[in-house]
This record gives sequence, C-alpha cells and structure tokens, in this order.
Amino acid sequence: MKVSVIGTGYVGLVTGTCLAEVGNDVLCLDVDVNKINILKQGGIPIYEPGLEDMVKRNVAAGRLRFTTDVAESAKHGAIQFIAVGTPPDEDGSADLQYVVAAARAIGQNMQEYKVIVDKSTVPVGTADKVRAAVQEELSKRGTQLEFSIASNPEFLKEGAAVEDFMRPDRIVLGAEDARAVELMRSLYAPFNRNHDRLIVMDIKSAELTKYAANAMLATRISFMNELALLAEKMGADIENVRHGIGSDPRIGYHFLYAGCGYGGSCFPKDVQAMQRTAKEYGSELRILNAVEVANERQKEVLLDKITARFGTDLSGKNIAIWGLAFKPNTDDMRDAPSRVLIKGLWERGATVTAYDPVAMHEATRIFGNDPRLKLVDTPMAALEGADALAIVTEWQVFRAPDFVALKAQLKNPVIFDGRNLYDPKDVRAAGIEYFAIGRL
Ligand code: NAI
Repeated sequence: MKVSVIGTGYVGLVTGTCLAEVGNDVLCLDVDVNKINILKQGGIPIYEPGLEDMVKRNVAAGRLRFTTDVAESAKHGAIQFIAVGTPPDEDGSADLQYVVAAARAIGQNMQEYKVIVDKSTVPVGTADKVRAAVQEELSKRGTQLEFSIASNPEFLKEGAAVEDFMRPDRIVLGAEDARAVELMRSLYAPFNRNHDRLIVMDIKSAELTKYAANAMLATRISFMNELALLAEKMGADIENVRHGIGSDPRIGYHFLYAGCGYGGSCFPKDVQAMQRTAKEYGSELRILNAVEVANERQKEVLLDKITARFGTDLSGKNIAIWGLAFKPNTDDMRDAPSRVLIKGLWERGATVTAYDPVAMHEATRIFGNDPRLKLVDTPMAALEGADALAIVTEWQVFRAPDFVALKAQLKNPVIFDGRNLYDPKDVRAAGIEYFAIGRL
C-alpha cells in the first residue's frame, strides 16, 4: 500500500519505517530540510534503538523515501498520516497549527480519495478541524474529492519505539466510515500477533483514549512520588510498599516507581492539554491539577536533598550528574528533570559535570557551551573531583557501579539517587552516604 507520513520526528519516522518494514511503499515528509537531508544521506536525526538499521534496510529496498515536497507527499499515499508536533500553547492547550497546516497541504494537492489519519496526539474535536481544513482547500480549488478522516493515536514509548510499533498491545482506530476502516485494517493486519490488535471506535473516543492513557500513567507516577515523600517522613521504605501493593493484580508492578519526576515530550504536555480541553467542555479534572503540581515539586526533589546536605549556597561546588535524557534509551531531553536540576544547581552557584550515554549532543544543543556544564565521556570521568553524584536517568550502565572506585573519585562520598537504583545497604556498606527517593 502507498503511505505518506507527514512529520518525520520520533513518531513519524518510526511509523513510516515500520510500515515500510512490512512491505508498504512509504514516503516521509518533513518541513525541516536539515532532518530530511540527514535521512537522505543515510543518517538518522534521533537516537532510537534498532531504528537506524531498519531505516537503512528499507531505504535500500526502495520501500522508504524522504522528501520536503508537500505536493509529492500529498499525491503519494492512499493513506496520509499526520504525525507533526502538537506542542503546548501558552495556556497549555495543544497547539494545532502544524496539524492544520498538514491538513491544508493535503487538501491543496490531493488528486484522488485519501484516508487522512491523525496520528499526532490531538484534543477531542481535532478530526473535525482537519476535515474542515481539507474541505476548505478543496473548495478553494473548486474540486470535489472524497476523503475520510480517522484518528489513530500512537502509544509507542521512546526508547522502545520500534518494538512497540512492531508488536503493539493495541491499535486504536477512530473512524466513521467503512471504507477507511477497511483500508486501515489491511494496513495494520501484519501487526496482529495471535489476535486482532485493532480496536475500532468513534473518532472522539479514540482522541480521548490517548490522553486518558497518558494521564493515567502520569497519575500513577505522581501518586508514587507523593507516597515516597510521605514514606520518607514516616521512616517507611517506598520500595517495600511498591512490592506490597504491586502484587495486587488490580494495581500491578508496571509504572509504579517513585523517582525525581516525569518529563519527556508527552506526559507534561498531554496532562496540561487534557486539563485545557476539559475546561473547554465546562469540566475539570481536579486529579490532574494535583498530578501536575506534584510533578513540578518532584523535579526539585534532588536539589532539595542536595541543599539539605550541603546548604543553599553551593558556590564552588561541582555536582556530577549521571543521566540527562528524560528516560533511558533515548536522547530526548524535552522537559527532562535533569534540566530543572542543572538550572537549580547553577542558580545556587554550583557547576555540573555530566555524562549520558546518548543525550550529550542534545545537552549541547540546549545549553550551548556554557562553562558551568562540562560533558564527559564516561560515568567515572564525571565523578573526578566532584562534591557529590546525582543520578537522574536510570540507564542500565549506572545500575552496578564499582562503589569502591566511585568513592575514590568523589571529593565527598555522597550519592543522591533520583531513580532508586541501588540497595541502600550496599551503598552505605561501601562508606558512601546515600539519599534516595522514599527509602530508608
Ligand atoms: P517531533 O517534534 O519529534 O516531530 C514532529 C515533526 O513534524 C518535526 O520534524 C517537524 O519538523 C515536523 N513538521 C511540523 N510541521 C510540519 C508540516 N506542516 N509538514 C511536515 N512536517 C512538519 O514530534 P514527535 O515526538 O514525533 O511527536 C509527534 C506527535 O506524536 C505529537 O502529537 C506527540 O504528542 C505524539 N506522540 C509522541 C510520542 C513520543 O514518544 N515522542 C509518543 C506518542 C505520541
């Protein structure tokens, strides 16, 4: 099948590549010339495990191509995925200008029936706006062409995006006509393992499903984080509590870890956008206000622990940071807790030496060459002469350090662990002070 993907970011590139992998003829469009040039030259603009090889394989097979030519893309795919960004507006609502621009581009250039699919995370009612934009452009051309609108939110997780797309738990499809459902059903047929993964519903429910999923996950995290702060005060251990409650299948172990706050390109903006949409409908999700407030506070938790230990004036101190990405296996630093920590340390006069397995180029892009941030090539190099270590991202490579070597490198043997990576007993046995989240 011929497929166009508009927006070649994390979601668009993974979607296009995985659809090519199962035999489709895919054209990925982006307005970012630089991004398309990197892809055309055989590179990839983001880090995502397994993606680079898959891109190369499908480009070589002639099933995956990249373009900045809007008209070419609008003509190519019988299915047109819109996978552009939906960043937060000033008031927190989703900014739909890129989605609407993509819809207009399709309307301006399409020559035959298309299924236009919103894959971006968009508020309830966006499909109507996309339909109106396409229709308006067709009318301007004086053309009457049939098209269908569908909503197919994406649930992939950065860091496991290829695996998630190739082996989905579910594929949510909001569609209101049989023709679109049939085309989408055959497009996704190769991804049905054991049983049908496609859940077909009305468009508004599909749009809401994506926000509901992210809001529920963010709520679990903020709940555990609040509980961890309470456990700390009470002298209980959140890891024991997690083990105890997770064994109930109604609760489950997944996504039940206390930490130094959630970040990334989705949870913060989707929680905000959902609150805004609720307001537009005269409703309020009070629980999400609390989720957001709790998360903002949680991003400060490492800084609070550092200042409680070293005092509020950190001038002359150097703090080592392990992990800059908002989570492991990605180079994405959008809304990452590391950014809040680095800024907070700077404001109190400290400097930072940091290591991340893949996000260092992203850190340079964000912070420039600020002399208060030194990036080094190994976890151990970050510790050299540092006053303490703060762990922000739970990369595998940080899970089993040589505590003796680690202690020898640090000026003060102190670890502030924002991800509860170690058994406190082991760390303390090595003569290192250990501050984790909600742990004894
Ligand atoms: P991204 O920022 O990585 O990529 C978006 C791309 O769209 C950019 O390359 C941009 O240049 C391009 N673009 C913007 N306007 C365009 C236009 N008119 N024509 C062609 N290209 C255009 O964003 P990302 O992370 O891929 O997210 C896309 C959507 O998917 C968002 O709505 C996001 O909430 C959602 N999503 C993201 C997930 C993630 O883990 N990153 C997971 C699930 C959904």
